[in-house]
Amino acid sequence: MSSFKSIPGTFDILPDGQTSGGDSIAPSRVWQHVETVIRQVMALYGAEEIRTPILEPTELISRGIGQLTDIVSKEMFAFERGGTNYVLRPEVTAPVMRAYQQHHLDQRGGVQRLFYIGPCFRAERPQKGRYRQFHQFGLEIIGATDARADAETIACAVDVYRALGLNDFKIRLNSLGDAESRPRYKEALIAYIKPFSDQLSEVSRNRLESNPMRILDTKNEKERLLLKNAPLLVDFIDEESRLHHDEVKAHLSAIGLSYVDDPFLVRGLDYYSRTAFEIESESIGAQGSLAGGGRYDLLSVELGSKKVIPAVGFAAGMERLLMALEAAELVNIPFGRLDAFFVALGDEAMKWTFPVAHALRAAGIKVGYDLSGRSMKAQMREANRQQARQVIIVGDDELASGIAQVKDMDQSTQRSVPFDQLTNQLTDKE
Ligand code: HAM
Repeated sequence: MSSFKSIPGTFDILPDGQTSGGDSIAPSRVWQHVETVIRQVMALYGAEEIRTPILEPTELISRGIGQLTDIVSKEMFAFERGGTNYVLRPEVTAPVMRAYQQHHLDQRGGVQRLFYIGPCFRAERPQKGRYRQFHQFGLEIIGATDARADAETIACAVDVYRALGLNDFKIRLNSLGDAESRPRYKEALIAYIKPFSDQLSEVSRNRLESNPMRILDTKNEKERLLLKNAPLLVDFIDEESRLHHDEVKAHLSAIGLSYVDDPFLVRGLDYYSRTAFEIESESIGAQGSLAGGGRYDLLSVELGSKKVIPAVGFAAGMERLLMALEAAELVNIPFGRLDAFFVALGDEAMKWTFPVAHALRAAGIKVGYDLSGRSMKAQMREANRQQARQVIIVGDDELASGIAQVKDMDQSTQRSVPFDQLTNQLTDKE
């Protein structure tokens, strides 16, 4: 056995599931099921899949997400090779906007709804619900300023959760205003915080100069108290953003989605303007953010576009969704059973099995057989492990007579089936 282990903060997704650093990692069939549901919901929204590379130019990410964010300043897996700077993508929004611009997707006409499912990488301290390689699914709606697009991204994330049976979550919503609102607000916020900056944690104190709005995000109770009377961004945002925000809220109400208007909600990425939101679940512990997103109308310009390409989207953590499903006992995807397992006794029978199994598979029957010439008992054990519905027993006698013994494992009955009727009988599964 190898002495190598997966890197902390990364994990294997196995057929039977496993635990990694105390977290349980769902079996691969559960991941597949969740991905299927995500694809079904995305189809309802007319969203099309986009797959972008894991490797992106470092500058795309640092410019897109913002130099002063934690993601760019501390958490990038970045390296240089032959004069090119690469980064393992920490998120997918900037790459999707890059692809949109690179391939002129606007020329397809109308608004583009693009969805993705795939791995992302952040060099964070691994803990429950926080990994270095994790998986996001998300939707980006590109080309629309309409507030319905903002409400739609939230509705889409919620529909995925509901389609999986999850109802226990909270939507927090805020508006960050336009590019001009924030500098004015930052100034007011710094002026408010400065007098008691010595009471702040070191992290928040460092943020005071670099990224003061992130202080609002603090989970530290003492700091929250200090911030109780802080100026609110809503009082600094421009009139159009305020109207837009009201429209988003009206659209959410029109579909019966309740939300909490949270003036303290700021996001860890700098590209947002106007709408910002998070979807949280209490069932998954300290890393309670299931999904986050918002409007990022100026990202296109930041990435070099001459014109503003309005866009809004969300991304959600697969691991956190799976944790929430597990906590609510909503994950019970049955093991994928084999239709039939061959128990072959002797060299001739083993040889005979291979083309017959191949033909059955071609007919759409899920078939397994032993590959290591084991005893009948061991082969039966393997049939049981794979939960085969039927076991086809073939030895010298069966080869001579052209009739196999077929055991129905659920009914515990056995019957004789001529070789030329195997396909017919096995296709008629029940
Ligand atoms: P984000 O809030 O950085 O937003 O990440 C979205 C979600 O990814 C989080 O709510 C969380 O569920 C999951 N996530 C983030 N980091 C980790 C981690 N280290 N381990 C496990 N799960 C994690 C974005 O990435 C934006 N691109 C969202 C967006 C899309 N905005 C507009 N469009």
